[in-house]
Amino acid sequence: MNPKPNILVAGGAGYIGSHAVRDLHAAGFNPITVDNLSKGHKEAVVCGELLEGDLKDPDFLDQVFEKYPVQGVMHFASKCYVGESMDDPASYYEENLSSALTLLKAMLRNKVNNFIFSSSCATYGNPIKLPLQETHPQDPVNPYGETKYFIERILRHYDRAYGLRFCALRYFNASGASLDSRIGESHDPETHLIPRVLGTVTGQYEKIQVFGDDYPTPDGTCLRDYIHVCDLASAHRKALLWISENDASEAFNLGTGTAYSVREILESASRITGADIPVETSPRRPGDPPELVADPEKARIMLNWTPEYSDLDTIMESAWDWERNRAY
Ligand code: UFG
Repeated sequence: MNPKPNILVAGGAGYIGSHAVRDLHAAGFNPITVDNLSKGHKEAVVCGELLEGDLKDPDFLDQVFEKYPVQGVMHFASKCYVGESMDDPASYYEENLSSALTLLKAMLRNKVNNFIFSSSCATYGNPIKLPLQETHPQDPVNPYGETKYFIERILRHYDRAYGLRFCALRYFNASGASLDSRIGESHDPETHLIPRVLGTVTGQYEKIQVFGDDYPTPDGTCLRDYIHVCDLASAHRKALLWISENDASEAFNLGTGTAYSVREILESASRITGADIPVETSPRRPGDPPELVADPEKARIMLNWTPEYSDLDTIMESAWDWERNRAY
């Protein structure tokens, strides 16, 4: 019997990484999580081994690669708050870039050539044309997005010079939780809309603030493309497969192509929880574009990836089940 292929999952104890770990395991891979648990949760790693260590530590990485011959690396570990990155850019450039560079160097030393990178729609900056296609100019407007953009650029050169094949997956708004509520979103602090809304229902927060209702959108609130975390997870597996079949590198948008407004999210949350949600309209949050929506055609055609769980009801129901029963 062939052993299961090892996949190293950097940041596998985080929100999206932990769902990818489960997806890989279910598909017959052996996910090996590397995480320093600075933001991740031990309890989120429900399959495969968890190796606690830092991506900025080359000796640790060499030990991991020596012990586990891996077929590919998925890199989820990153600081990921847009607002925080505006206030403290240094920590974003230092952490996100140095951990990616150290990891990539260790991969090259250990002759591992397949890399799946968590990029972001934040690499596009303010959209000039919607829906966003992968060919849209990348001009990030915050340091978080810029670190993702820099890493994409680094990857293009590593591909050309060292033959490192990669997929840069540009996520839109990751949301929802595993359908059995075993793992889900747990950030500290939590800034994302859906967990904040549901946290208001459970009484963690007094009210939900709507950041701006004077945008040039149908109801005045911002439009976003919400993509279920399990759909993100399957896209990573498909991207890995795509690299090994094509021996090439690409960037893909991961979104649904449908945008919902903040008000529509609130309505969905009220309907699914049966709660009246206290809402306050607040000023716009700096750096929020009025609308972000993906053109997901490239991933659909080339990766054969179609979101299965990203209708708003499934996103909200899974997030709500998780919120009520969360283990961490
Ligand atoms: N919002 C509120 N109230 C809140 C929280 C959010 O009104 O309490 C609004 C925001 O202003 C925005 C929408 O809800 O219009 C979604 O906000 P999130 O913070 O949930 O998500 P973002 O769209 O800001 O951020 C996401 C990812 C980032 C990524 C970014 C790209 O979380 O990692 O998209 O723009 F960089």
